Amino acid sequence: DWIMSDYAQEFMQDVRMKVGEHGHVIGAVSGGVDSTVAAVLMTRAIGHRFHAILVDNGCLRKDEATQVLKRMRDDCGVNLRCVYAQDRFLSQLKGVTDPEVKRKIIGGTFIDIFQEEAKMIEEENGIHCDFLLQGTLYPDVIESVSYKGPSATIKTHHNVGGLPASMKLKLIEPLRELFKDEVRELGIALGIDEVSVWRHPFPGPGLAIRILGEVTPERVAILQEADAIVIEELVNSGHYRKIGQAFVVLLPVKSVGVMGDGRTYENVACVRCVETTDYMTADFYHLPHDILGRMSSRVINEVVGINRLCYDISSKPPATIEWE
Ligand code: XMP
Repeated sequence: DWIMSDYAQEFMQDVRMKVGEHGHVIGAVSGGVDSTVAAVLMTRAIGHRFHAILVDNGCLRKDEATQVLKRMRDDCGVNLRCVYAQDRFLSQLKGVTDPEVKRKIIGGTFIDIFQEEAKMIEEENGIHCDFLLQGTLYPDVIESVSYKGPSATIKTHHNVGGLPASMKLKLIEPLRELFKDEVRELGIALGIDEVSVWRHPFPGPGLAIRILGEVTPERVAILQEADAIVIEELVNSGHYRKIGQAFVVLLPVKSVGVMGDGRTYENVACVRCVETTDYMTADFYHLPHDILGRMSSRVINEVVGINRLCYDISSKPPATIEWE
């Protein structure tokens, strides 16, 4: 696709001019399509003078950090390091149930860790990073105005992008003019693997806002297992790419069940799949009943701690996509 490869070529030339022959760039990545495409572009432009940081906040999907390291570092050659900060995040989240407080804690801790890690990279390599790579898209530019609205903030969004001005870094935003589908096209033109290219968006606070009520390591583990099964079933049945976002929510509710000749009293979880173009409005996805059936028997049989699975049939508005 010549338009996208031209776009990539042009970016690489511009960035080499901007950063110069000895400049260094830093950036946080999540492994989503935006940060992956941005990181690969930057790596093709300046190689290991781009330093990427992945933060494992303990609220990622099952095996996420390992998978992202494999795809981005091993397969795409990005100079990437992972900060394993699960304990730090989870201890801060202890006892917290308010969704906005969860967001603040995760956002704040993320910024602290990013700054600490940036400093370490500079010291270890005897370098200075003057530039920050961000995977901001065109709709992010608009959404930050319209979504929050003039009067009330519905949800304070934290994404891998939001870093403090105090770091005094010059921003580089290669995707600023692109829509999501164009970023995917660019990713394909760059030869990035399909798993990265077709990933659904994932919120910065991650599973913390999909565990209603308190986030504990045990509840994270339960949700990770259920979520992995649901995503696997969607991928295997060919529905994944038709869906805007799919995930499981762990409810703060227990229900009675029966297993063998015993009574169980375990957690209830809910599957959410939405079709959407812009994430501002969304419809629940009409998932065939046989796939729902497979999901429910697998989750209930394979995940210890869940004995009932529901499907969310709400649209946005009036519901939001996430439950918190
Ligand atoms: P809602 O739930 O507001 O979600 O309908 C719209 C989109 O935003 C994502 N979302 C977030 N993303 N940090 C993020 O980076 C957040 O705190 C956050 N809250 C919601 C949500 O996953 C959906 O794509």
